[in-house]
Amino acid sequence: MFTDTQLLDKVNDYISHLIYGKQPDGLYEPIQYAMSLGGKRIRPVLMMMAYNLYRDDVDSILSQAAGIETYHNYTLMHDDLMDNADIRRGKPTVHKKWSRNTAILSGDAMQVIAYRLMTGTGGRYVPAVMKLFTQTAMQVCEGQQYDMDFETRMDVYEHEYLEMIRLKTSVLLAASLKIGALLAEAPAEDTQFLYDFGINLGIAFQLRDDILDVYGDPRVFGKKIGGDILSNKKTYMLIQALRRANPDQLAELKKWLSPEEFDPDEKIKAVTALYDAIDVRSLCEDRISHYTLLAETNLGMVKVSDAKKQPLLNEMNKLMFREA
Ligand code: IPE
Ligand code: IPE
Ligand code: MG
Ligand code: MG
Ligand code: MG
Repeated sequence: MFTDTQLLDKVNDYISHLIYGKQPDGLYEPIQYAMSLGGKRIRPVLMMMAYNLYRDDVDSILSQAAGIETYHNYTLMHDDLMDNADIRRGKPTVHKKWSRNTAILSGDAMQVIAYRLMTGTGGRYVPAVMKLFTQTAMQVCEGQQYDMDFETRMDVYEHEYLEMIRLKTSVLLAASLKIGALLAEAPAEDTQFLYDFGINLGIAFQLRDDILDVYGDPRVFGKKIGGDILSNKKTYMLIQALRRANPDQLAELKKWLSPEEFDPDEKIKAVTALYDAIDVRSLCEDRISHYTLLAETNLGMVKVSDAKKQPLLNEMNKLMFREA
């Protein structure tokens, strides 16, 4: 059995030796740049942990692990373009360092590379893995579209938000786990429990991301604080603030959400003050606990020993209290 750090080292070592392509530099350098800036690498680690529940030769799925991470990094490159984000992992984003067109095309290439890595060297599992991966990739696009659509809507319900983050974030964590299990030829029931574990873990994960976007330390989080507030993202906290605000607070919140131009820092400060006053952070924390508990239950259903599940459980607990 491998620990999280052992698996992380394997993933990082494998990724650092990947050659995406040679020419033209303008296409491949930004890919190299994005992939070299690290990040938590949780998706490939989860994939390898799921595989390791059943088999020990974890190195044999490094291609797929790198594939899921490349796919994730592609979504970030396009997401930063869509979210107007200038900083990721503490460094300038590709569209800032190069250009918007570079982020589009290098991102496209990364998606192709992700597919190539995901097929690996072939094998019996390929059709099942590619079917799930393709379905997941489509769902992420759907989630990202809802995320954008909601920016201009004032009447987003909690259930709509939850469905949006299930699509944009959870399904990729869930697929990482299920692909690991499929590659290990795990029993079908287990692959589904692991998928469900990833869905609930992913919801808690995105709720935490939304909290950190407001309350995180930019040096640790690696992204600019307040980006979601500036884009009028309908996060769980904003939806709750709109629902629970008193008439004065609601009028103020609506002013900041209007299409008028505001000083960015002023807007972030004012909306954060409203979040504090309405105490939406603790509501969000409660939801995180709720979905983490559901995830734990899903993991409990997987038919392997508790000892084997420990790394996944540790990972879940680590993510629940993460600062980055
Ligand atoms: C960021 O993902 C995008 C979300 C789904 C919130 P991560 O928080 O996994 O980003 P990195 O890869 O660690 O930088
Ligand atoms: C992430 O949503 C979803 C995807 C990248 C698919 P966010 O927009 O919240 O992610 P960050 O905060 O920029 O990492
Ligand atoms: Mg986004
Ligand atoms: Mg973003
Ligand atoms: Mg975010």
